[in-house]
Amino acid sequence: MWRAPSKFPAGPSEGLRRWSFGPLNENPLDYFTRLAREYGDIAGIRVVNFRTIFVNHPDTIEEVLVANARKYIKGRVLRANRHVFGEGLLTSEGDFWLRQRRLAQPAFHRAQIASYAATMVEYAQRLLENWQNGEERDAHQEMMRLTLQIVAKTLFDADVARDTQDVGKSLELLLELGANFRRTLFVPHWVPTPTNLRIKREIALIESILYRIISERRSSGRETGDLLSMLLHAQDEDGSRMTDRQLRDETITLFLAGHETTASTLSWAWWLLAQNSAAEAKLHAELDTVLGGRSPSLDDLSKLTYAGNVITEALRLYPPAWGLARVAIEDHEIAGYPVKKGMGIAMAQWVVHRDARWYDAPEEFRPERWEGDFLKRLPRFAYFPFGGGPRQCIGNAFALMEATLILATVAQSYRLRLVPGHPVVPLASITLRPRYGVRVLLESRQSGSAEISSDAKQAMSAD
Ligand code: HEM
Repeated sequence: MWRAPSKFPAGPSEGLRRWSFGPLNENPLDYFTRLAREYGDIAGIRVVNFRTIFVNHPDTIEEVLVANARKYIKGRVLRANRHVFGEGLLTSEGDFWLRQRRLAQPAFHRAQIASYAATMVEYAQRLLENWQNGEERDAHQEMMRLTLQIVAKTLFDADVARDTQDVGKSLELLLELGANFRRTLFVPHWVPTPTNLRIKREIALIESILYRIISERRSSGRETGDLLSMLLHAQDEDGSRMTDRQLRDETITLFLAGHETTASTLSWAWWLLAQNSAAEAKLHAELDTVLGGRSPSLDDLSKLTYAGNVITEALRLYPPAWGLARVAIEDHEIAGYPVKKGMGIAMAQWVVHRDARWYDAPEEFRPERWEGDFLKRLPRFAYFPFGGGPRQCIGNAFALMEATLILATVAQSYRLRLVPGHPVVPLASITLRPRYGVRVLLESRQSGSAEISSDAKQAMSAD
């Protein structure tokens, strides 16, 4: 009889104490970077009796996410947050997930999201109406507010302006608390600890807003063509429709998955641009040439290639989804190693995106590396900010369009200068975000247009 080899890849063994309070939990970005350096493309991590295989080679990541996708479910931290996400797209599994994915997919088709472009620009412009030359702001907070409003308006046709602050604060808190791996994995959510009670209150607050939006839409019978309408009107073969609870799970998932990720992408992009004046000047040159002072629109996107490359490069260096995790649900093999049911698999965009085998000067911010057919020449999973395979991000085209249009709208009018002495530090929570925000000074570009146009000219002639 054939027997799978019993080997487990070499790697560290962490006791419970070291796991809880050591580098894996305290600084996972460094931990995984060091692991890749020490053990190469595959490493085995033992935490007490739980085993995880950490894979770094793009081909092996493809094996996990694409070829063997059905042999896994989502990782333990995401599943431990199911009381927040419920059976929404991010956390549901199997046939239920597939049905929901098919129902939601049309809302993210290219033609559909094209209709969201004008809203994205309009909301970015509204944000600028409140900005003033010389003011100091937290770019991350500004981007968070903006992307939350956009997701609410485009997907649910809800003007959550009056609720935005409440929803935003609650969502932020849920993400923060949900990312505390120690607490999430060891303290079940139903135990009435002060933190769990707090989480319960925040969920109740968001739910009350979501149920209100759902019930208003049900009673108006309005067919708006947005995601909420699609979900409300979707019918199974037996004629059944989604319950309010299912709608709540999908909407809370999209609010959570769809705003902080894009906001962080933009925050990192502002921070990177502020430190790279040549890249910033090139961006301004492109905006001035392509837009000539008018607002960006969907049709401009194909011409705003440098802006697109700034976003692509920000997503490479600071991928909001900095790592992915899976748990095996059947025995099989990956890269010649046996994977037993119940074993974990971990992959880190943070590590792969900074691997010198795929990227020259991997630590440097170089949007121009994406010119020509660079992406096509990369192994498919050397760049995977949106994951891949059947569980790939449903909102990736939405996010790229949104990030590029916001970048263009804001950079057309303002330069964001870093406030000296304010640290910008990555925090690898559920998403990768700037721990203390990104404090910036707003500098109106109009106020220094002569200088800008000479910068712009220089940048153009450098091409
Ligand atoms: C730059 C922004 C974004 C990044 C980096 C990002 C990243 C990801 C990644 C890596 C996954 C796969 C997770 C896994 O395989 O375990 C994912 C899934 C998902 N994302 Fe995004 N995302 C972004 C924006 C959005 C937006 C704007 C939306 C919705 C409006 C969205 C909705 C979702 C949903 C619903 C899933 C689960 C899909 C499924 O399993 O069927 N994301 N995202």
